[in-house]
Amino acid sequence: MCGIIGYVGPRPAIEVILPGLRRLEYRGYDSAGVAVLEGGELQYDRAPGRLSVLEGLLAGRPREGTVGVGHTRWATHGEPTEANAHPHLDCTGRFALVHNGIIENHAVLKDRLVREGHRFGSYTDTEVIVHLVESSYRGDLEAALRAALDEVEGSFAVAVLCRDEPDRIVAARRNSPLIVGLGDGAQYLASDVPAILPYTRKVLYLEEEEMATLTREGVALRRLDGTAVHRTPTTVDWDMEAAEKGGYPHFMLKEIHEQPEAVRATIGGKTDRSRLRRLFGGLGIEAETLQHVERVVVVACGTAWHAGLVGKCAIEDLAGIPTQCEIASEFRYGAPVLGRDTLVVAVTQSGETADTLAGVRRAREAGAPVLAVCNVLGSSVPRASEGVFYTHAGPEIGVASTKAYTTQLVAMTLLATYLGLQRGTLDRQRAGRVLRAVGGLPGALREALAADAMVQECARRFQDSRTFFYIGRRYNLPTAFEGALKIKEIAYLHAEGYGAGEMKHGPIALVDPGLTAVAVFSEGATHDKMRSNVEEIRARGGRVVAVAPADDAEAARVADFVLPVPRVDEVVSPVVNVVPLQLLAYHMAVLGGRDVDRPRNLAKSVTVE
Ligand code: F6R
Repeated sequence: MCGIIGYVGPRPAIEVILPGLRRLEYRGYDSAGVAVLEGGELQYDRAPGRLSVLEGLLAGRPREGTVGVGHTRWATHGEPTEANAHPHLDCTGRFALVHNGIIENHAVLKDRLVREGHRFGSYTDTEVIVHLVESSYRGDLEAALRAALDEVEGSFAVAVLCRDEPDRIVAARRNSPLIVGLGDGAQYLASDVPAILPYTRKVLYLEEEEMATLTREGVALRRLDGTAVHRTPTTVDWDMEAAEKGGYPHFMLKEIHEQPEAVRATIGGKTDRSRLRRLFGGLGIEAETLQHVERVVVVACGTAWHAGLVGKCAIEDLAGIPTQCEIASEFRYGAPVLGRDTLVVAVTQSGETADTLAGVRRAREAGAPVLAVCNVLGSSVPRASEGVFYTHAGPEIGVASTKAYTTQLVAMTLLATYLGLQRGTLDRQRAGRVLRAVGGLPGALREALAADAMVQECARRFQDSRTFFYIGRRYNLPTAFEGALKIKEIAYLHAEGYGAGEMKHGPIALVDPGLTAVAVFSEGATHDKMRSNVEEIRARGGRVVAVAPADDAEAARVADFVLPVPRVDEVVSPVVNVVPLQLLAYHMAVLGGRDVDRPRNLAKSVTVE
């Protein structure tokens, strides 16, 4: 998973490429490189490490070429070294190529190319493509790239420059995102919109198996089989502010604080029954299909999977439909029993997660209707699905997902309510109460965020813990999973999410003063059970932080520290309860001096297996 940018126009390409790469760093940041066409030659620069290393290199080597490509890498094949950084060149130095994706048959292709006399300079899977282009080139770059891609298996978004055709960039995609930005006398190419937003809002989304040739005069789209494609550009209405930090020290903190607005955007207006019907009526799946659903299977990864687990509780409670929630990387290789009466719901922020996308394709092949719950407009998962509910959380740049998660929770709750009403399993009063609770979420989130100073104090008090156990029950078991994931991924602290009732079946043996349990209290039947679970931990010397309403005297009595949240209906409690856990992870990470927005070994969208 990597970021690609390209520019052809009147300016030195580097002036567009470097800031663009900075905005794409969330896609990968272990090495970076650029190539420009200058004075009839290809000039290229690459550097391992963060983009600043490449910027330092280029400060001493001004590049004036006005056609160029850039790349920020997240290693899959080959260590993050200079040699493995993109762009890759062929043996003659005539072509430079950048790639996002994985070439699965690279070993076989490389053996053959080496036998034919090609010399390889890297350990990447990507390099085979540029050698294949070199082999096929007969004076037509587009034809050569098409021939090369005909031989590769796997996923790619590629862009290639050729010394002999210095006015153009040729690009193509299969299972990896790529967009083209249309300017006046200048054209842009990128993995994602924020990279080109300062220059243009007119965007062409490349579809599967399509290629684009960019010149100053314009862009020609074709299918990989050579047939011409005509498409009207989309106008992107995000403003740049939305993709920048807006005064917060980190994107993650900004995005945590954006949750009231993000959730409001997901709800998109009044929360009443007729609006719900209009909303789900227009998603692309027939109301009748949804009415006759016998089973729901949610497919997702990571944080999105946690949203799916909450969705399972809500769909079973409100709609009475048996629901299972599958990790996409398992689902895609399993033997799922699916049919037209099983609704598959694919939950994904980016819409580009390779395993989720593969799960969607698997489900579609089996004839199941697939509804995507997704944030990124026009991304691969919604396009591969029958219907889509966009969460409209806005761009999420911090690697750790926050506002994408809470908006996914809202989407799942609305879906459960809609299904319950459609099937007559949910009475109007209960539906009304749930919808009012959803409508009250922006205010409740603001209230939860107001406790930030207490969360910061809590982070200071408990940062020395050896290990954390996040415990929850029912709706808030996934909240516990999510809290533990957050603190692991950005603060690098050991944490486990666990069913509170399961502690006594093993993990309680770990309890001592070095263990902190973060107990997420739910309303309803499990509240008293949680209190007993917490007392068991305290009795063995463990320390306890409770997430509970400020007026929950029982939670306050048994815990060492309470992170207060507003009292809301249990169905929507995961939305507010996760807020102090996001903030706790954030403050622990800051106290530990971690790189909050770009945690080590992680990348924002996982477009490879
Ligand atoms: C964790 C996180 C990941 C993602 C997962 C799925 O903070 O962000 O666990 O949730 O990689 O990504 P999407 O939602 O883009 O499919």
